[in-house]
Amino acid sequence: MELAAGLRLVSPAIRQTGAHAMSMRKAPFGFAAGLIAALVGVTGGGGWEARAQEPSRAEQLIKYRQSIYRVLNGNFAPLAAMATGKAPFDAEAAAMRAERVAYLAAMLDEAYPADSQAGAPTRVKPEIWANRAEFDGLLEDMQSKTAELAKVAGGGDQAAITAAFGAAGKSCKACHDKFRKE
Ligand code: HEC
Repeated sequence: MELAAGLRLVSPAIRQTGAHAMSMRKAPFGFAAGLIAALVGVTGGGGWEARAQEPSRAEQLIKYRQSIYRVLNGNFAPLAAMATGKAPFDAEAAAMRAERVAYLAAMLDEAYPADSQAGAPTRVKPEIWANRAEFDGLLEDMQSKTAELAKVAGGGDQAAITAAFGAAGKSCKACHDKFRKE
C-alpha cells in the first residue's frame, strides 16, 4: 500500500494504464530500491564516499540559519526599495513581503543551538551564547517589529508601512552591530 502511494507521488503517468500499474505493484522491488537509493543519495558501490561528503551537523545548522536570513532578506529588500522610493509602492506586494518576513523571523528561534557556533563559515560572534538573554531579547524585538510591520502592511497605508519598516530595519541593525561579525 505504501509503495503504491509512493508511486502515485513519483509518477502520475504510471496510474494512467491500469495494467502497467498492476505489474508495478507485483514486482516493484527493483524499482523501489532504485528509488530509495536515489532519494537518500547512496548507491551500492559508493556508499562510503557518499557518506564522507555529507555535511557535518554544524555545517547543516549554520547553512540552515543563513538560508533563513537569505530568504528573509530576499523579502525585506523589496520593502526597503519601496520605503526609500527606489521602487513604486505596491500595497499588495508590501503586505505579502511583510508577512513572509514576519514568518521567517519567527523561525530564527530555532536557528542558534549551541552546536552551530563553528564548523563552517559563519559570522556569528561567540558572545551570542555568552549573552544569550540579551541576544534573545534583540531577536524578540525584531520579531515583534516585523510582526507589527506585517500587521500594518495589511492595512495598505504607505506612510505607516514606511515607518514600521524603518523600525524593523533598526531592530536588524541593533543585533548585527553587537552579535554579527563584519
Ligand atoms: C538577534 C540578532 C539578529 C537579528 C535581530 C537579525 N540578524 Fe541578521 N544575522 C545575525 C547573525 C548573528 C548573522 C550571522 C549568521 C551566520 O553567519 O551564521 C546574521 C546574518 C544575516 C544575513 C546574512 C546571511 C548569509 O549568510 O547570507 C542577512 C542577509 C541578515 N542577517 C539579514 C537580517 C535582516 C534583514 C534582519 C531584520 C529583519 C536581521 N538580519 C535581523 C543576527 C541577527
